Amino acid sequence: MRKVYSLQIQYPEQTREFDSRLTKTGRRSLSHSISHSSTDSNSSGGSDAENPEDEVSPRDMQQINSKGNRDFCIKNIKLAGFGRREIELAEDEMTALMALRKAAQSEKPLAAAKIVGCTHITAQTAVLFETLMVLGAQCRWAACNIYSTQDEVAAALAEQVFAWKGESEDDFWWCIDRCVNVEGWEPNMILDDGGDMTHWIYKKYPHLFKKVKGIVEESITGIHRLHHLSKAGKLCVPAINVNDSVTKQKFDNLYCCRESILDSLKKTADIMFGGKQVAVCGYGEVGKGCSAALKAMGSIVYITEIDPICALQACMDGFRLAKLGDVVRQVDMVITCTGNKNIVVREHMDLMKNGCVVCNMGRSNTEIDVNSLRTPELVWQHVRAQVDHIIWPDGKRIVLLAEGRVLNLSSSTVPIYVLSITATTQALALIELFNAPEGRYKQDVYLLPKKLGNNAMDFQNSILKQTHTNEICVCLPA
Ligand SMILES: NC(=O)c1ccc[n+]([C@@H]2O[C@H](COP(=O)([O-])OP(=O)(O)OC[C@H]3O[C@@H](n4cnc5c(N)ncnc54)[C@H](O)[C@@H]3O)[C@@H](O)[C@H]2O)c1
Repeated sequence: MRKVYSLQIQYPEQTREFDSRLTKTGRRSLSHSISHSSTDSNSSGGSDAENPEDEVSPRDMQQINSKGNRDFCIKNIKLAGFGRREIELAEDEMTALMALRKAAQSEKPLAAAKIVGCTHITAQTAVLFETLMVLGAQCRWAACNIYSTQDEVAAALAEQVFAWKGESEDDFWWCIDRCVNVEGWEPNMILDDGGDMTHWIYKKYPHLFKKVKGIVEESITGIHRLHHLSKAGKLCVPAINVNDSVTKQKFDNLYCCRESILDSLKKTADIMFGGKQVAVCGYGEVGKGCSAALKAMGSIVYITEIDPICALQACMDGFRLAKLGDVVRQVDMVITCTGNKNIVVREHMDLMKNGCVVCNMGRSNTEIDVNSLRTPELVWQHVRAQVDHIIWPDGKRIVLLAEGRVLNLSSSTVPIYVLSITATTQALALIELFNAPEGRYKQDVYLLPKKLGNNAMDFQNSILKQTHTNEICVCLPA
């Protein structure tokens, strides 16, 4: 007999129970997005800006949304209908987040929360954005990455969103500034992915921290920056580290990358995987995902690792351990997944064979020393979106993807189902910090309380219980 499960979210001074039995079984949508943003890297030889409208900076446009609001800055409001369909597709797959939305919408645990967000702006984060608003929050949002914004999704939100695909560095900071530098509105929560929003507020508007109740940070880079602030005694609000939560690492880092590495490489470099020799640097969660996918496609995978446990795991999983310097002449592809700096440096790239593909699935743009390629003797040839050939004087060329930035974020769709778990974790962390009684959290960086991680899983599992077999169901907590 199937059990009836109920979910619990702990709020300060009270316990609220939500019924997790959702009536909607719904079809499982394609986890694969149909957006132009996500597929334009697929058009061989296509330019990044084929539409004349694309030449005009959104900063120079006057746009108005259906509610008569002008307080946003995006590429093209006319894409709103298309973006809405993308968001609806994402909602179908973001079961945990939708379950949280349904369970907590009447309680409004984020009523009076004013959240500034700096995340990727995609259909999935749009579901998070809209969930936070359903739970009572007001939000202003900028992109944390200049390439990953889905313009049609930004158009569908068109509500205090400042972001478009292909922002310049100056645009990037301008958009962040527009989120915080606004008359009559001061944020009291920060949702960050990379630490740029937090950095900007510290740098330009430190007085805002008087009202901020907490920061929820998703990325390892942002966590490093928060720890740095904390060590310097400058962190003036509590922060929750979502990046190191088990729910994110075990699902987002591993399964997301396992699914999106192949898609990214196909879309950018049109690679046949079978028989290719690949060096994967780092055998953490991301490296495990990438190498498993490539091995399954018939690639011969070499792993470079500095951690003895992860190195042994690579061996136990049937991979060949190597030093990058030892295999770099023979491999067809090098993929960095370490979260570390300067993993692939100029000396490595000088040794690579003609046509070697170099890309990064790890930390921002620091793993491949791309700056070392910007020297007069090397010619850069832009081939298509996210693909550059770097040509040596003897004619040898390497294929650099996404200019060394995180490949799958700009070139692939990401499994929405997995992102849903991370997004639910972020929402629960925001609820926790916003409602925490005085003194529960100090000015420090906290790991996600285990209870909240379990709550995120409960929301996801509540749907599994409806869609999977009884054998799976019996493993789940009652
Ligand atoms: N592309 C994505 O979608 C995505 C998703 C999640 C995380 N990330 C990023 O990917 C990076 C890795 O994440 P993770 O969860 O796998 O981290 P992790 O800590 O589990 O794994 C990193 C591994 O790299 C190894 N390493 C570090 N320096 C090395 C070096 N010089 N040579 C060889 N190996 C080295 C470490 O020993 C470790 O085993 C992080 O920066 C993370 O933010 C990317």
